[in-house]
Amino acid sequence: MTQNTTGRVAELKIDGKVYTLPTLEGTEGDKAIDISNLLQETGYITLDSGYKNTGSCTSSITYLDGNDGILRYKGYDIEDLAEKCTFVEVAYLLLHDELPNPRELAQFKQLLEQFALLHEDMIHFFDHFPPYAAPMSILSVMVNCLSSYYPEMGDDPLANIDITAARLLSKIRTIAAFSYKKSMGQPLIYPRHDLSYCGNFLNMMFDNPVRPYLVQPAVVSTLNKLLILHADHEQNCSTSTVRLVGSAGVNLYSSISAGINALWGPLHGGANEMVIQMLEAIHNDGNDFIKYINKAKDKSDPFKLSGFGHRVYKTFDPRGTIIKQACDEILEVLHVSDPLLDIARELEEIALNDEYFVKRNLYPNIDFYSGIIYRAIGIPTNMFTVMFALGRLPGWVAQWTEMSVDPSRKIGRPRQVYIGEKQRNFVALDDRG
Ligand code: ACO
Repeated sequence: MTQNTTGRVAELKIDGKVYTLPTLEGTEGDKAIDISNLLQETGYITLDSGYKNTGSCTSSITYLDGNDGILRYKGYDIEDLAEKCTFVEVAYLLLHDELPNPRELAQFKQLLEQFALLHEDMIHFFDHFPPYAAPMSILSVMVNCLSSYYPEMGDDPLANIDITAARLLSKIRTIAAFSYKKSMGQPLIYPRHDLSYCGNFLNMMFDNPVRPYLVQPAVVSTLNKLLILHADHEQNCSTSTVRLVGSAGVNLYSSISAGINALWGPLHGGANEMVIQMLEAIHNDGNDFIKYINKAKDKSDPFKLSGFGHRVYKTFDPRGTIIKQACDEILEVLHVSDPLLDIARELEEIALNDEYFVKRNLYPNIDFYSGIIYRAIGIPTNMFTVMFALGRLPGWVAQWTEMSVDPSRKIGRPRQVYIGEKQRNFVALDDRG
């Protein structure tokens, strides 16, 4: 897909001189001003802290409309994909641009089965992490390590990309489950070819030699849904990190490892863990909602309502709406009654009727209810962001690949406006008072 220049131009007047800048429009009407020659023509750069107004690329992967709460992968509505597909189908869609037909899906699943095991030597690495190591740090290290075990990309980062993508998708699931087993001091449970992608993950997490785990279809279906909802979200912090690192020519495994680290942050994927900590704190504080709402509104307090607000969505996050419903459904199926769910519902209600949150268009995001589902299916809090990473992997790979094949690709290298000391005379060490 190519970008559409509109033929319309934007005019910029600096010091009395008018410069014209081309504009372009995406297939869904996104508008952009092309400033690629700005510095050369005017001597000025743009300054945009946090990139609130800056497009870093054109992309044909995910469309997001934050005002109307629309999210589509490759043109398909997230609601349809979450309802009707498995995560493996959606991963295929992101990696291959089209939903798979039955034969393509069977071949893809076979690849995932083939790559499910880790090299046995890699398994020893888990022994050297302290028992309290954060699973996100283990995940990032082990994914980076894959580049040493599978250096098939060599000098050409795109060689065998389909195989590398399938290998990564399959192995990241095994790494995630093994890191949990190690943290519990339990024997590792190896992947099984007779189980689905999500069924296998659950089994590797929860099966053990003395108490076999029963893979429940309802849990598998909920996990599929959660991973699909996380699968891509255009140029967010971790995806931009994957692209930026990859733009220097870094291999896929290491670029993804960098993305995992970016995702870890509490303002990004780490928010799902923070939500549960916040709900527990409210619970332990006798459900004093107003105290926490006031803390979130107090500018001198760094506390924020975790799971609320989004850089792009200025209305309901469509993923949040689907997750909220999935949360109600799975808790009912599993007969789980979680006091934190009631607290979350009440907190949401209060925030959505509070002028501070209304004025700033702050709504629950994907992280607000996901943690309650994870708790219900037995995933411990420190694994929540790892779950996010499992879901986001196909998006990262698709974005990295799109960046890598783009003929106009350049190394990512923002500019700055220097505000430090002007040139000054050097003072020898002995002369410095
Ligand atoms: N609680 C209280 N106030 C908030 C919140 C919140 N959760 N989110 C934003 N605000 C306020 C800001 O203080 C700011 O107020 P001001 O205009 O008076 O200064 C205003 O709303 C705009 O917020 P920004 O921080 O400028 O918005 P930005 O787009 O930079 O940040 C972010 C978005 C990081 C998601 C923010 O809303 C936040 O910190 N939320 C909590 C953490 C979270 O849930 N992160 C997960 C996001 S989804 C994801 O990454 C998967």
